[in-house]
Order: sequence, then structure tokens, then C-alpha cells
Amino acid sequence: MKTRRGVVQNQRVSPSATSYRRRREAPTHRGARPLRVLCREVPKLWDSIAPSRRARTRSTFSEEPPMTQQNRAGVRRQKPANGTNAKQEQLSNFTTDHTPLITTNQGVQIPDNHNSLRAGARGPTLLEDFILREKITHFDHERIPERVVHARGAAAHGYFEVYRSMSQFTCADFLQDPAVKTPVFVRFSTVAGSRGSADTVRDVRGFAVKFYTQQGNYDLVGNNIPVFFIQDAMKFPDLIHSVKPEPNNEIPQAASAHDTFWDFASLMPESTHMLMWAMSDRAIPRSFRMMEGFGIHTFRFINARGESHFVKFHWKPKLGIHGLAWDEAQKIAGKDADFHRRDLWEAIENGDFPEWELGVQLIPNDKEHAFGFDLLDPTKVIPEEMVPVQRIGRMVLNRNPENFFAETEQVAFHPGHVVPGIDFTNDPLLQGRLFSYTDTQISRLGGANFHELPINRGVCPFHNFQRDGMHRMTIARGQVAYEPHSLIDGKDFRVDGGSAGFQSFPEDLEPPKVRRRSPSFDDHFTQARLFFNSQSAPEKEHIIAGFRFELSKCEVPAVRQRMVDNLAHVDEKLARRVAEPLGINPPDAKAAAGRAGFRDHRITMPIEESPALRMVDTGDGSIKTRKIAILVADGVDSASLRPIREAIEKAGAQCKVVGPQLGTVASASKRQLDVDATYVNMPSVMFDAVLVPAGAQGAAAMSSNGDAVHFVLEAYKHCKAICAVGEGVQLLSTLGIGADTKPLPAGVIVAPTPVTNLGDTTAATQIAQEFIAAIAKHRHWDRANVESVPA
Ligand code: HEM
Repeated sequence: MKTRRGVVQNQRVSPSATSYRRRREAPTHRGARPLRVLCREVPKLWDSIAPSRRARTRSTFSEEPPMTQQNRAGVRRQKPANGTNAKQEQLSNFTTDHTPLITTNQGVQIPDNHNSLRAGARGPTLLEDFILREKITHFDHERIPERVVHARGAAAHGYFEVYRSMSQFTCADFLQDPAVKTPVFVRFSTVAGSRGSADTVRDVRGFAVKFYTQQGNYDLVGNNIPVFFIQDAMKFPDLIHSVKPEPNNEIPQAASAHDTFWDFASLMPESTHMLMWAMSDRAIPRSFRMMEGFGIHTFRFINARGESHFVKFHWKPKLGIHGLAWDEAQKIAGKDADFHRRDLWEAIENGDFPEWELGVQLIPNDKEHAFGFDLLDPTKVIPEEMVPVQRIGRMVLNRNPENFFAETEQVAFHPGHVVPGIDFTNDPLLQGRLFSYTDTQISRLGGANFHELPINRGVCPFHNFQRDGMHRMTIARGQVAYEPHSLIDGKDFRVDGGSAGFQSFPEDLEPPKVRRRSPSFDDHFTQARLFFNSQSAPEKEHIIAGFRFELSKCEVPAVRQRMVDNLAHVDEKLARRVAEPLGINPPDAKAAAGRAGFRDHRITMPIEESPALRMVDTGDGSIKTRKIAILVADGVDSASLRPIREAIEKAGAQCKVVGPQLGTVASASKRQLDVDATYVNMPSVMFDAVLVPAGAQGAAAMSSNGDAVHFVLEAYKHCKAICAVGEGVQLLSTLGIGADTKPLPAGVIVAPTPVTNLGDTTAATQIAQEFIAAIAKHRHWDRANVESVPA
């Protein structure tokens, strides 16, 4: 019997062979290469493809209809052997590689892809040219609508494995056996911007995970912030309309810093908690790999006995939670709009696979009302100090998509994709989401059959009596497309109750039917205050600066005023500081209290601060994948940088030599040193730290080069670790950033020349270790007076 792979290979060869035979019989026409030649070449061309590529090569879907085979079997497929990835195997059935010949979509070989068919070499193009028409028609229709929100994103494949069986809490199959690796596809996104917008704008980041489990697909469609702006899905279109570019002039792109957003937000005090997060560094992540993820809503775990626990989901990044400086984020948006996308792609290509742990907060069913706030309210967190996060598994992203459109763009997430053992709560935001996703995907992906797209298929079979619709791919056999039925094999078939499969938790519901919000959702400020109180001093400053920037972009003073009046209910000092540069009156808490949407209900939290809400000092303390610029010019002392470079690379960081031009620079010892990038094409905002080596001539050259000076000043302003050795120290001194004062500014390491002499490896190692420790802190946010730095 042929293997699946064997079948595909054989079939892949045959279309070429068939068209080769067909062409052999066909008459030649003027200008075409003699068929004799083609006949000889086609098999040769195919033979010239490397065997490894041929093995991977699949052509079209029609060559391998896996769903038909699965459906015919009518039974669940066996679990894949440990270590294999069922999703990857499935996707490989749909992938194609390039071949050295091109055909029409019908498989007819195209001899000339440069010239259309004309009436004479200088005459008009003929309508008859089916090759031209097919090519242009396909091109004309190759765009689909972008997502109405979360349009800009990047994704990767990987796997999830649970640490221990969670059977006590849930019967979800993928959370039972630590030996099972469940394939996942994860898409990170911004919310407001269009598909082509910049990655580093201030925004919430989507964090959507599709688990391809043996019980069906489970989607955990979350964000990198654990709360949301609104409490009821009824307000989602309003929220999004307010933050999207304004309808009259389509300005601004991918930014909340404009009147309509703050007009809406200031009239919706329930958004206050989320606004605190959105103005913090959470909204300008350093990398997708350095973000937390949250399911936000309270869900339910249901075990095999039908018992329910409430559950909140968390993703904890191995590399810690880190943000950019706001000025840096804005500059990156211009210098490299793909900064996050590139970072994810490169990390995976380099084998630095991003990793998160899945955490859960579990709350017994009878403790639903034990917190003072409502578990159904998506504007609230359960502080980790109140209910610890149990880490139950880990997710590793280890493979980039093969094709952005086919996978990242066509993937369809939906919070309603759950599996047995996971259920919803009555959170009114979640309930609205359960409707919205499939609905929008029908128009985005062009019909009701998008679940058949390769990226959206489950790895277990599916079968039902839905039929037809645009682009149906499954070929369901037989006359029966309904249930109950008896015509398939003469036996009655009826699916009418039973204990297998997905069972909804039989929750007692409270009548009556009302269009009203529960008073238990009424406190809008206590957790906003908890969040602010929990931040370190620099993080608080960043939040204040975030509000100032955004509100300063609002042209209507009343909007600015209303927002700071609301903030006075979070923290008087915060509101005053935000208001200072905005040209408005001091915040007036009483004015806010009189407005619509305001509720004066306050809950009591048992804690004043939650350190778990901070970003500082998170992560494993490593510098893995951090990017370090080594600044050079002609005359650099390359020997001085070698031991430090070796040490930081050994610790997992990536160094790039950045000079005035590409090519090489001449070192002090007249050797040529390769340059990877220039001061201009990879400016300081692309790096986490800077190393300035020794060499009098090199330091002098850089001191008189505006781009090099700006590079170091900007890195300093953005609070990055800077290490200077030998004469490089003088370069720092001339910049007026206090590199010659004691104590040195935080995160600045200097070593005078003798210490870094080539022979003095101990001293060099010590400098390297200090530099590594400074990089591991991510940024030195407490560095004084960075505002005065002109960069
Ligand atoms: C807790 C609140 C919410 C979170 C965490 C959230 C998260 C997400 C994420 C991560 C995506 C991108 C999925 C992807 O990468 O393809 C997304 C898309 C989307 N969300 Fe939400 N969302 C929330 C609330 C809502 C609400 C309330 C609605 C509507 C009532 C909504 C409607 C949509 C729509 C229409 C899309 C586009 C889906 C597509 O075209 O594939 N979201 N959301």
C-alpha cells in the first residue's frame, strides 16, 4: 500500500507528465519553442528539484482530500504519536512549492509570462488570451476585507503541553496528559490600526491562541491586558467607532490620541480601569514575546462529574513583561513599522522559540459572590494576591507560517470555539462576542465554509449535515443531509440527548428578562486605583505621561477636562499631574460625579497594592535575544571589544556592529572589521543596549559624527544599558550625560583603557558581567533627567 506521502508525490508528478503528453500531440505555433525541446525539458526540470523539496511538495487541495477520507471513516482518528504534530502534518497536505515551470490554474503550461497575445507585435491585445485574463482576474480579486478590529497581526505555530492532569477541574482532553503536545496557532495583533499600520503604536495587543485538540478546536481569544474598556457588548461598536480614524477625514491611523476616543472614554467611566492599563507601558510592548496574555472574562472549567469551577486564564512570558519608551515606540513606527512582526519571525528563525506558561486562577462555584466585585464584570481583575495563579502548562512557538495570507490572514478565531470541559459565564461582553466572530468572518472570509480552510480545520474529524455555501470543499456523499434519518443503512439515526460531547453547564438562571446592568458592575474606580497604587515610581510617571500625551492631542478642551475630572476619582495627585500641561482647570471630582454614566458605588478591596500588576523585575533575568549595538568607526580598538562581545553573545544576546557605512572599518591595528548596519539604517531604537569600544581615533571620529552622537544620546534617553571602554568613555563624557561623574547614571558602565587591555581578561569579564546585569534589567527607567537630553 502506498503511503499518503507516496500518493501525493506520484500525483504531483502526473500533472506535468500529462500536460507534457498533451503538448506533444498539439501543433506548434509561431514563436513557441519547439515541442521536441519542451518534451525533453519537462521531466528534466522536475528531476532537477532537490529530492527534499520534492518530498515536501504538494500541489493542490484536489490531490489530497483528507476530510473526505476522515468523514468516510466516521470515527475519530487515533491520537498522533507523541512528538508528532497533527496540525503540521495536516497543513503539509495543502502546501505547494515552486517548480521551474508555471501553468494556468487548470494546469496548462504557460510558455511566455511576459507577453500578452496580440494582433501583430504592435497591435491590440486579444480578448482570446485566456492566460492573460486568468492572471489579471485573479490579481483583481486577491484582496479580502481586513478584520474590522485587530487587522494588523502576526502569527506563529507551536505546541502546548500541560504539566499535570487537570481532571479534578476540567475534562478538557488537552489538559489531561502531560505526555501530549497539542498543536497551536497564535496570532498577536493591535486593535485599532489597519492591516498596514505600524506595530509599535499605543494600543492593546490581541493574544489569540487556537488549540487544535482531539476534541475539536479551542480558541482562547484574549488580549495582553486583563480587563476591557466596556462591560457590555452593546457598546463595542461605539467603542471601536470612537477609536478608529474619524469618519469625516479618516485621521488618525492606529492611534487613540484624538477627540472621538477620549470623548467616548470620558463619558464611559467604566473604561477608567482599562485606560490606566492602556496608558501604561503594557500598551507599547518591547516584543510580542515579552507580553502577558489574558482570557479576561471569567470562564468555567467543568469536570467529568459535571462540577464547575470559575477560571481566569493567564499567559506568563518566560522573558518577562517589558515595554518600550513612548518616544522610542513612536520613532520605531517610522523606522521599522514591522518591528514586532520582524522580532517574532527572527526569534523563531534563529531557534529562540518564544515560550509562555499557561496560568489559571480557579474559584469554586460557591465562591462566586465572595469578592465584593462581580466575576462577570470584564473591567475587573482578581488580584493574584487574592487568588494565586497556578501554572499548569507551557506553550512554545517554534515554527513560522509558510504563507502569511493562507495562515495568518485566513485564521478565524472565536471565543465560542470551546471544547467539552470549558464553558462560558454570563459576562455580557463575552455573551456578545459569542455572536460577533462567526458573523464577521462570514463577510471577511467570503461565506459560511471558512472552517474548511486549512488553517481553521480541526485535527479531529467533523461531521454534520450542514451543506453547500460558497467554496464548499468537502464532498459529502449520499442523499442524506438531515437528521433524524433512516436512509443511509436502513437504521434509524437520531442525535437527541446523550452524555457524550459538549454539555452546557446547567446553571440556574435568575429571572426576569431585563435590559439592565447589574448594580454589582457599578464600581468603576477602585480597581483603577489599585492598579495605579501597584506600579513602581517610573511606571506611574509613564502612565501620567501617557495620559498627558493622549489628552494633549484632543482639540476640544471639554473632553480633556472631563477626563481629568474622572481621574480625580482614581487618584487626586494623578489627576492633577495629568491636568498640569493641558491648559484646563484643575480636576474637579464633583463635576464628574454629576455626569451620566458615573456611579458612586465603591467596593472594598482587601489589598491596597498588587505587586503582580507591575512590569518591573519580571522575567528570568536572562539577556537572551536582546539586541546590542557595537558602535564603531575607523580606528576602533577591536581587541577591546572582543571579550565583552563574546561574553554577551554567550549569554544569548545578539550583537550587531554599527558603523558610518556598510562594508568594513579599519581597526586601530589596521585590520578590517565587518560592519553589519549603519548609524542611520539601524538607529538606536532598534537595540536594547550599546557598547562603545576603545580606540582614540574611533572615538574622535564618532564624537564628530552627528548620527553616532545621536545614537548614544538617544539610547541614553531611552534608559538603555550603555557600556563604554577605553577612549569610548571619552565619547560619553563629551555628550554631557554625566558619564564622568560619580555615581554613574543608572545602567551606564565605563571602563578606563588599562582595564580592558587584551591581556586583562579577568577585568574584561567583570565589565562584561556588569553590562550583562544592566541589560537584564531591560531599561533603567529611574535614570535621572532624561527629559533634558536632546535626542
Ligand atoms: C474582552 C474583550 C475582547 C477581547 C479580549 C477581544 C480579542 C480579540 C482578538 C485577540 C481578536 C483578533 C483575533 C485574531 O487574531 O484574528 C479579535 C477580533 C475581533 N473581535 Fe474581539 N475582543 C474583545 C471584545 C470583542 C467584542 C465585545 C466584540 C463584539 C461584540 C468583538 C469583536 C471582534 C471582531 C468582529 C473581531 C474580528 C474577527 C475576525 O475578523 O476574524 N471583540 N478580538
